[in-house]
Amino acid sequence: METIALVYAHPYPRRSIACRALVDSAATLDGVEVRSLYNLYPDFEIDVAAERAVLERAGLVVLMHPIYWYSVPGMLKHYFDVVLTKGWAYGEGGGALAGKDCLWVSTTGGNDDAYTPEGRHHHVFAHFTPPVEQTARYCGMHWLDPFIVHGSHEIGAQALAASAAALKQRLADWRAKR
Ligand SMILES: Cc1cc2nc3c(=O)[nH]c(=O)nc-3n(C[C@H](O)[C@H](O)[C@H](O)COP(=O)(O)O)c2cc1C
Repeated sequence: METIALVYAHPYPRRSIACRALVDSAATLDGVEVRSLYNLYPDFEIDVAAERAVLERAGLVVLMHPIYWYSVPGMLKHYFDVVLTKGWAYGEGGGALAGKDCLWVSTTGGNDDAYTPEGRHHHVFAHFTPPVEQTARYCGMHWLDPFIVHGSHEIGAQALAASAAALKQRLADWRAKR
């Protein structure tokens, strides 16, 4: 069975509320392999071979993290740099991820109003998507419609639980179609 690789990059996993709800829910689905990068590699010394093995057996790669400065937390950027190298992820002989699906799952502090031209962040959220999307596409992955939870500081427990359940359903639906 193809697994779902859930690459999880929260710098403070124990303090997380929003991402924690999402990752805990997703992890209850069979065949989901969670790689909590900040727990696994507190010194940033990523075991590249181990991470690649996880990705190789997956049909779906989930990238999950809180948005930090309109982007991914530093560890996930470092993961991209050292795991997705030429000859493995792209370039000659580099088709390890080609044909896999990629789902971006993220949480933001900003709510829907903040992510408008008039709002605090001056851009719609989709303007911040291309670096992650194109990283996946450059590696030949199919980019799925992202799963983003906005306004995560003000979201109530019930709405957060509903988001967490919706994410799990999304993964289950993906599995059912295989
Ligand atoms: C260093 C840092 C940078 C952040 N940058 C952004 C940002 O650019 N846009 C945004 O909407 N929220 C930003 N936030 C808010 C986080 O995205 C938010 O706290 C997180 O999604 C909540 O999820 P959690 O409960 O799992 O930590 C930032 C938070 C921190 C600590």
